Amino acid sequence: MDRNAPVGVFDSGVGGLTVAREIIRQMPGERIIYFGDTARVPYGSKSRDTVIRYSRQIIRFLLTRNVKAIVIACNTASAYALDTVEKEFDLPVIGVIRAGALTAVNATRNGKIGVIGTEGTVGSGIYTEVMKQMNPQVQVTAKACPLFVPLVEEGLLHDSVTDEIASRYLSELKGKFIDTLVLGCTHYPLLRSTVGRIMGDGVTLVNPAYETALELRALLEERGLTCEPEAAEDDPEKYQFYVSDLAEKFTAFATSILPRQVRETRKIDIEKY
Ligand code: DGL
Repeated sequence: MDRNAPVGVFDSGVGGLTVAREIIRQMPGERIIYFGDTARVPYGSKSRDTVIRYSRQIIRFLLTRNVKAIVIACNTASAYALDTVEKEFDLPVIGVIRAGALTAVNATRNGKIGVIGTEGTVGSGIYTEVMKQMNPQVQVTAKACPLFVPLVEEGLLHDSVTDEIASRYLSELKGKFIDTLVLGCTHYPLLRSTVGRIMGDGVTLVNPAYETALELRALLEERGLTCEPEAAEDDPEKYQFYVSDLAEKFTAFATSILPRQVRETRKIDIEKY
């Protein structure tokens, strides 16, 4: 395995860019190949089998770009597909759920944790299962917030409609007196200020992207796969972006949340893989 090869990062669309952003922040020397499955988003309302099939196709595509490791930067795909694909492919694959669960279990003081995510992630029960394995005493309340993804995709990050919907979704969690809330969907960190305001100062918001980047860093170091210093510095292709549909919209969104301008996004036919 070439230590200077890129890391593959994928999501159902733009949301995983919040994870890519964190990887760039914590490991500025690494190359990244990002794939956003913009033609088939959302994954949150699809079946397990479908999400596993999509994830396999994306990993096959990323392997053609010679990636050295893969980050499933999508909670739904991590929930449904990580266990399957990590056995099927001969390279390290990590998801976002263990990282988010661990941070929450370490952060809670009263043992009451909330999780918000897509219907797929919440329905899978995976966050509860993983957190209970880490600490059987914690009480976990999970709530699906299916309208959050389209609100973010429409750019309604600070809007009264978003406030109203968030208040309704979060009222159940407020009633459970949680002190820690996992933003268990890639899009939700972009609604952090709204969610934080509604939940109040006493609730710690956990963004799994941060811990996922830490986990990736530890994994690359452990396997001697960290990119050599300056190896990718002058590479104009250091960060490459691929999508399955509508590249222009993706490029604009990526530029708005990443620390550097995204010049080009390439569209590929993912069904070929
Ligand atoms: N990326 C997905 C997740 O983190 C959210 C968007 C979707 O439903 O595909 O669960």
